[in-house]
Amino acid sequence: MRIDVLSLFPEMFTHVFGSSILKHAQQSGLVTYQVVDFRDYANNKHRKVDDYPYGGGAGMVLRAQPFFDAVDDLVKEGQKRPRVVMLCPQGERYSQKKAEEFSKEEHLILLCGHYEGYDERVREYLVTDEVSIGDYVLTGGELGAMVIADSVTRLLPGVLGNEESAVTDSFSTGLLEHPHYTRPAEYRGMRVPDILLSGHHKNIEEWRSRESLKRTWERRPDLLERKNLSEKEQKWIDE
Ligand code: ADE
Repeated sequence: MRIDVLSLFPEMFTHVFGSSILKHAQQSGLVTYQVVDFRDYANNKHRKVDDYPYGGGAGMVLRAQPFFDAVDDLVKEGQKRPRVVMLCPQGERYSQKKAEEFSKEEHLILLCGHYEGYDERVREYLVTDEVSIGDYVLTGGELGAMVIADSVTRLLPGVLGNEESAVTDSFSTGLLEHPHYTRPAEYRGMRVPDILLSGHHKNIEEWRSRESLKRTWERRPDLLERKNLSEKEQKWIDE
């Protein structure tokens, strides 16, 4: 998969794309990241990427031209039109479902605005998806682009060592994860639940399912609204 980012602050991505799993995924050839400074595409003497708003008013507006030219340059002739994702607070709220959808694409282009709005023609004619990473306002789209790149990369086949961990983690199953423990069995008087030490795999599985469901019910009941619970699961919640 190929993930291109258009940003005025490409240095912000150095550590995120150059560390840990994202670095390893890139070294293994499973993904390539390219961060492009779209100021390089500004077709004016001072490389200005913004301008005054038509109709007047405070603030500046990001010009359409650098975005259109940069995307033209990133899309090779004959290539299928990639998804072009704009990071902005008024976009669709990002979710695991959207990450799964994006992970099936061959090529994503992520647009990061800063300080000001985008010329509406970028939204209307260039962008295929508008994404917000939450109901708060950031200084720019970069952190959102990192969130998308990270959550999508870990879903690519071969990126996570243990294939299971992407399948059973929170949200993929529609539930929050059950509690985890590791050695020692007792620490400062705090004991690991006996059942996990019992070696009884079937009971352990059942305990995990119940804890996962209980935790979801307590913390994120909204996640259960669309889920059909079995009689047994409903009883666990009612207890
Ligand atoms: N740019 C500014 N705020 C944002 C948000 N919440 N999500 C995505 N991009 C943004």
